[in-house]
Amino acid sequence: MRTDTQHPVTRLAAYSPPAWLVERVSLTFSLKAEATRVASEIVFVPNPARADGDHPLELDGEQLTLMAAWIDGQDVTPDITATGLTVQNVPQGGFTWTAEVEINPAANTALEGLYMSNAMYCTQCEAEGFRKITYYPDRPDVMAPFTVRIEGDLPVMLSNGNPTAQGDGWAEWHDPWPKPAYLFALVAGELVSVDDTFTTMSGRKVDLKIYVRPGDEGKCAYAMDALKRSMRWDETEYGREYDLDLFMIVAVDDFNMGAMENKGLNIFNSRYVLATPDTATDLDFERIEAIIAHEYFHNWTGNRITCRDWFQLCLKEGLTVFRDQRFTGDMRSEPVKRIDDVKMLRARQFREDSGPLAHPVRPAEYVEINNFYTATVYEKGAELIRMLWLMVGPQGYRRGTDLYFERHDGQACTIEDWLKVFEDACDIDLSQFALWYAQAGTPRVDVAEAWEDGRYTLTFTQTVPDTPGQTDKKPVPIPMAYGLLDKTGAEVAQGLHVLTQPQESLSFDLAERPVPSLLRGFSAPVTLARDVSAAEQAFLLAHDSDPFNRWEAGRAMMLEALTSDRDNAALGAGLQAVLTDETLDPAFRALTLTLPSEEEIAAHVAGRGQVVDPSAIHDRRAVVEHTIATALGDALPAVYAAMRVDGPYSPDGAAPGQRALRARLLAYLTRLDRQAVEAKAMFDTANNMTETMAALALLVSAGQAQDALAAFETKWATDALVMDKWFTVQAVATPPAQAVATVKTLTQHAAFNWKNPNRFRAVIGAFAVANPAGFHRADGSGYTLLADWLLTLDPVNPQTTARVAGAFETWRRLDRARQALIGPELERIASAPTLSRDMTEIIGRIRA
Ligand code: PHE
Ligand code: ZN
Repeated sequence: MRTDTQHPVTRLAAYSPPAWLVERVSLTFSLKAEATRVASEIVFVPNPARADGDHPLELDGEQLTLMAAWIDGQDVTPDITATGLTVQNVPQGGFTWTAEVEINPAANTALEGLYMSNAMYCTQCEAEGFRKITYYPDRPDVMAPFTVRIEGDLPVMLSNGNPTAQGDGWAEWHDPWPKPAYLFALVAGELVSVDDTFTTMSGRKVDLKIYVRPGDEGKCAYAMDALKRSMRWDETEYGREYDLDLFMIVAVDDFNMGAMENKGLNIFNSRYVLATPDTATDLDFERIEAIIAHEYFHNWTGNRITCRDWFQLCLKEGLTVFRDQRFTGDMRSEPVKRIDDVKMLRARQFREDSGPLAHPVRPAEYVEINNFYTATVYEKGAELIRMLWLMVGPQGYRRGTDLYFERHDGQACTIEDWLKVFEDACDIDLSQFALWYAQAGTPRVDVAEAWEDGRYTLTFTQTVPDTPGQTDKKPVPIPMAYGLLDKTGAEVAQGLHVLTQPQESLSFDLAERPVPSLLRGFSAPVTLARDVSAAEQAFLLAHDSDPFNRWEAGRAMMLEALTSDRDNAALGAGLQAVLTDETLDPAFRALTLTLPSEEEIAAHVAGRGQVVDPSAIHDRRAVVEHTIATALGDALPAVYAAMRVDGPYSPDGAAPGQRALRARLLAYLTRLDRQAVEAKAMFDTANNMTETMAALALLVSAGQAQDALAAFETKWATDALVMDKWFTVQAVATPPAQAVATVKTLTQHAAFNWKNPNRFRAVIGAFAVANPAGFHRADGSGYTLLADWLLTLDPVNPQTTARVAGAFETWRRLDRARQALIGPELERIASAPTLSRDMTEIIGRIRA
């Protein structure tokens, strides 16, 4: 990793506790778009853990103008640098720091710190944004109660905790729960609220408020309902009750991420709050439910117990993702949720883990922490919790989390603290398990079988691949859930075995040779390598009692069909059986009938050590989809008709699964019909956004979308979130030959405001990650287009730029010709004169 002085490296090994703790802090904001004043009064006390001599006062601060500062009422003149200030010879027993700074929210386009979004003031402080608001020890292991006064000419002025007083042009807030600065939030603007209440398990009444812009009140019902269900679920599943009298959510239009768990005042990207059947798809509703839950769950896993330092990010994120995954599984379908999660894990995290940006779930160093809000920290982090849950069982898991909350409430913790509670509550040794947090790379498990004299033996060999900066890795504990099936499909053995050795065998005495179903439910985030015959895959697709592996068998057959010449008559027959099996959940059938994405196919090809050709993958996928459509025969139109949902739209219950299956079948039908008659019919008759978008995507890929796109645009021109769908469907589904030209046209559109992260992602981000054949066009025009836009956005918003730049992370698996086109583009980016720290690190790692 680069160690230039301009962008220093922060290392886990260099952690030392803060010299000063904060007993309490008061902030007064005088809001003005271009010149906000922030007055602070911070009571510092010495940290007993650092009684190792005299300490100066060192505070973080960036882009601040210090107007004046006092210590215990005496004027001081600190030494100021671009990243903070130092005061020497402060009273070692403790003191009060008072200061006033001026900041410019209107000029803040990076959307970190205090900024403006459509005339509304809002903040984003995770991870290190508070230092752009005032001078402060901006690190998560410094926790304090905050008192906030906001002065301004705005009807709604919010901060964390409970409102304590307000008058004309001012409001005061107090948050009694000590928190790190990254959980601070302030919102002010012309907002209206949708209100409800929740009675907690101990009978306390909590006011719930969702704040939106006037006119959006009608779009909050689903988010509110999801919030109440989340609050109840955390009580029943984890025994966690909400701890303030008020819980607020605010929707903002300019936001770098999905949402933020600020104490008592969650701030959301508006796309994850606002929804009506007309404007949001089933998937949007599901995501809203999941993100509302995720941020709410952070109240205990993240806020009451926070992270000691940013290396421990997975302590809150991996755990909270696991919690929201289980919540969704409980609200909807557990197996369908698991399949969705694994698809995402493979597409995003396995991709990251096998390329130049691979890093451990707990990284050991970083240049810019914003670059580590990754699929590895979040999704692989959640898989680690899930493995632990499988290993100790649901009761052991609950004992462990109970002990975690009891032992660590109010603390800033580490992964070691987390593992220790399970060692203590469940009497297990997790020292080998800890390797999962330190070693990057997706472990591979090779499986061999033997059958002799009534004895069936499975031999597992595990290897962890090299990743940047890491070689010679040790074996990790791998929970292997398995079942053995006899000829009729009946289960003759099943269980969970934790593999801990480089090589290990499991034997069974059986009457006949079984068919194994391994890694059931995807019990560990590994790649399973085993030679399985087409007949065996077809058998599992038809008989496995584990729904995940049933889906997996179909997927494996599809991957074979997509990447080899194997005769796949069995695939068509197997899928037809699934399609017509009315005992199966339609949502599950839809998943099983879905071909692996181009990205999944590319990863599969790369995993076999072959060169990836995105154009060939795209073409081959179309051919196989056509073949399957033909093989489905008459069942295709019959089930398509049967899955029609009549009556009013509901985002819950069975309807979304039926719509998903119907949309999947429409894709097959459209493969067989170049005129896309059914897709046009669905577009014309749809009474909800789910069907509208399903049809529109197919029309765009079939080159039949002109009228539909125009009608859609006319209808939704003034709804930015809906227009994002219009942008994305074209960026993603336009056939490769026209994709670059289409994206260029979209960037000229009046509704394309590239400084808004949702818009930028809807066009540029979507094109670069979800239209692989268009992005990887052999003439390199996709690469130039992306590089140009990254260079445009970087000076304005480095965080969003660096995330989208991840589209280049797979470049080494491509053919030489494409690498020779990408190399110079990366070089052009790297040599930009004022490249951000975020981009310098990401591009440096991608090129390394
Ligand atoms: N902590 C947020 C979450 O996962 C994500 C986030 C990170 C938001 C950084 C903004 C900035 O819930
Ligand atoms: Zn989170």
